[in-house]
Amino acid sequence: MRDVIFDALESGYRHFDTAHAYRTESALGEALQDAIIYNKVSRSELYITTKLPTYHMRKDNVVSSLRESLKNLRIDYIDLYLVHVPASIKVESEYIPYPSCSTDDYDYPDIIDTWREMEKLVDAGLARAIGLSNFNASQVERIDNNARIKPVVNQIECHAYLQQNKLVDVCKRRNISVTAYAPLGSPGLQIRNNGRYWDLFEEPVILKIAKCHQRTPAQICLRHLLQRGLILIPKTENTDRMRLNLEIKNFSLTKQEMEKLSKLDSNKRIFSFNGMKDHPEYPFKDPY
Ligand SMILES: NC(=O)c1ccc[n+]([C@@H]2O[C@H](COP(=O)([O-])OP(=O)(O)OC[C@H]3O[C@@H](n4cnc5c(N)ncnc54)[C@H](OP(=O)(O)O)[C@@H]3O)[C@@H](O)[C@H]2O)c1
Repeated sequence: MRDVIFDALESGYRHFDTAHAYRTESALGEALQDAIIYNKVSRSELYITTKLPTYHMRKDNVVSSLRESLKNLRIDYIDLYLVHVPASIKVESEYIPYPSCSTDDYDYPDIIDTWREMEKLVDAGLARAIGLSNFNASQVERIDNNARIKPVVNQIECHAYLQQNKLVDVCKRRNISVTAYAPLGSPGLQIRNNGRYWDLFEEPVILKIAKCHQRTPAQICLRHLLQRGLILIPKTENTDRMRLNLEIKNFSLTKQEMEKLSKLDSNKRIFSFNGMKDHPEYPFKDPY
């Protein structure tokens, strides 16, 4: 992790996205602390995001959960703190996205109460900004309509096969930025789960546009999202790919290419949080 983080800093990355549930906060914190000590970067240049886990959403747990994350990360404030998933479970279980959760595991805190606690984190200076992740449009609206401190971001799965135009529009109308997670279609997770069931890098439309611009398919996927005004958080452990994934600012896709890419939208979701599908706050029951 330390080598990967140092490579990322060297390549120019400053935004690091983690979560309590990923169990990567400590390793990330240790690496960033070393980088600060070695003057590779200063804390104020970094933008660190972490997330309130679904098993800490009761109001008594929110502040203590962020304090634990800050301790793991070895920092005294977080730049952005997100509610990871709107549906809640009682206790920490296997790795996210909790495929084998059952209704016995569900918890039912009111997400507005959870949000009130999130606001207190900003008041206390522990979080610079707060936001949402995996919230559908009506959940975003419910939080936004009741918020004293508004959510700044909704972090959602978004790539060429799941473009989320309607949800993005709802967020944008409310001045909420959208962060696209799994912007490359999360090929690593697909392989770990049940094998590769689809591959954006083999999609003929993407390959053709990539050839035309002399770019990689991954760069076309990322540029498409960037041109839609989204924030991107591609993950890679490979130094060459880190650099390639950043080199998307000095070319642009034409209107026709953007239109061709928009036609790939086909509601293919990888992170479906299936174990939570019977929870009343399960976000993907609604079409968007
Ligand atoms: N809020 C949420 O619920 C949620 C859920 C999922 C993910 N996320 C966040 O989003 C981030 C990204 O999502 P993700 O990792 O699932 O999906 P992703 O970024 O779409 O895909 C990552 C995979 O793509 C490979 N890759 C990266 N760059 C590449 C390139 N240029 N060419 C070919 N392959 C490339 C990586 O392998 P190598 O490492 O070998 O390059 C890795 O297997 C996560 O790290 C996490 O922070 C959030």
